[in-house]
Amino acid sequence: MAAPHLLRTDDWWRDAVIYQVYPRSFADGDGDGTGDLAGVRARLPYLAELGVDAVWFTPWYLSPLVDGGYDVADYRTIDPAFGTLAEAEKLIAEARELGIRVIVDIVPNHVSDQHAWFRAALEAGPGSPERELFHFRPGCGENGELPPNTWPSQFSGQTWTRVADGEWYLHLFTPEQPDLNWAHRAVRAEHESILRFWFERGVAGVRIDSAALLAKDPALADFTEGVDPHPYIDQDELHDIYRSWRAIADEYDGVFVGEVWLPDTERFARYLRPDELHTAFNFNFLACPWAADRLRRTIDDTLAEHAPVGAPATWVLCNHDVTRTVTRYGREDTGFDFATKAFATPTDLGLGTRRARAAAMLTLALPGSVYLYQGEELGLPEADIPRDRIQDPMHARSGGTDPGRDGCRVPLPWNAEAPSYGFGSTSEPWLPQPRDWSRYAVDRQRADPGSMLALYHEALRQRRTAEGFGDGPLTWLPAGDGVLAFTRGHGLMCVVNLSDEPAALPAYGELILSSGPLDAEGRLPRDTAVWLRSPAPGRTAIEVTGGNSVIMPLPGGEPLP
Ligand code: GLC
Repeated sequence: MAAPHLLRTDDWWRDAVIYQVYPRSFADGDGDGTGDLAGVRARLPYLAELGVDAVWFTPWYLSPLVDGGYDVADYRTIDPAFGTLAEAEKLIAEARELGIRVIVDIVPNHVSDQHAWFRAALEAGPGSPERELFHFRPGCGENGELPPNTWPSQFSGQTWTRVADGEWYLHLFTPEQPDLNWAHRAVRAEHESILRFWFERGVAGVRIDSAALLAKDPALADFTEGVDPHPYIDQDELHDIYRSWRAIADEYDGVFVGEVWLPDTERFARYLRPDELHTAFNFNFLACPWAADRLRRTIDDTLAEHAPVGAPATWVLCNHDVTRTVTRYGREDTGFDFATKAFATPTDLGLGTRRARAAAMLTLALPGSVYLYQGEELGLPEADIPRDRIQDPMHARSGGTDPGRDGCRVPLPWNAEAPSYGFGSTSEPWLPQPRDWSRYAVDRQRADPGSMLALYHEALRQRRTAEGFGDGPLTWLPAGDGVLAFTRGHGLMCVVNLSDEPAALPAYGELILSSGPLDAEGRLPRDTAVWLRSPAPGRTAIEVTGGNSVIMPLPGGEPLP
């Protein structure tokens, strides 16, 4: 096993590689079919060997798991399905020993309907101080039988639910996720205390769920499509909340990454001002189709929007909410949009995998930090979940038209021959694994130098040890139609061919890594990426035969080692 890399103490988050663990599906330590902290602890060496700087855990707190843990009943307790607080503390310490920081997920917009506050609010009745922590209102219509307003849900379906005494409460997601009232002092104080609780336990950062949704128009005025400002997205009050959070994070050297889905780049960048969040997920890049002009524009816009606030960009290809990358890139529509997710879309997984390999190298060469979602390094495709096994509420709330997000949340395959592919000791994990997944298993891929895992492993090693990666400038190089080519300083170049023809490469001295072999003429085939180092003194252009690179000494120069 590779030696663990040292824990970096500089602004590590500016160019970190952060691996997202969905605990329910990562590794099952106690064999009950659900992933857990024991499973993660046992697999920490895998993450160290992969070479990631940090791990972000999606919520592991006490939860009825109606929305996969994004319905939190108690932030200071680990859900018994996952383990205990003592285990989480051990995990944080053990990860740190291996050079890996831990990022936890905080869900400030809402809590579970099983949270003590909401239960008390239901009990206390209309007009009570307990209800002020949420958005309770009388209904409209003659007898209050209509919801208080027309706000659209983030999950399709209703945003209001009526309780027995006739009042309605607001939930932008499911009825089991009542929205908190962020105009209330106690809501702010409680979250400040939660942040301290986790920073005190040694976490290095916090992901902020639905970060642009917390503040609501106090009048709860009806929503009209296209009218600005939106009554609950990106309200100005949010910035004050995040400034107070930043002051807390600074006490602990902690960092934030916000889940901010805002297509308006100027509004997005406001969250990244120096006294607010350190970083936010780049969803415009995640949703971008596999097309050179679109990607280039997204990269340029991303860098331009981050530059004035001095924040590093993040690069994300997938997460627990979206279609797996190899599947998305193997479809006719290679972009991502929640609105157009459908069952049984024709997919060419070979093509998608090829593109995903190239996209991984593109992403890892861009300036800023990179998020990897568990299984991305294995090239896992989106799984087809039988309808009667789908648990994600997005499916049911769409009336069964949206396949939901379970297809990207299937338990990981570790061992090709073991029950549940080594996810746990039982063959019945909480979501069914496709029959042909042994080929994606970690042990198979470890033994195959051409595997997706081998590519990620080598790409992360190079990114960590070679010069020019991470934070810093990016300069585009002249390139043909459909080809992206840029330099990163220290002679590092990245070329990605998204055209239909092989592309000639610029002069270079060293081929660092390619996502697939070059052709016989040394050209870059379609849907392939390569990292090059421009010729250094003492080196001349490379000679390439059948994908193998040979570095030639200059005439009269010393042969290179
Ligand atoms: C975020 C999470 C998603 C969750 C939602 C509600 O978008 O990533 O998984 O369902 O928030 O908390």
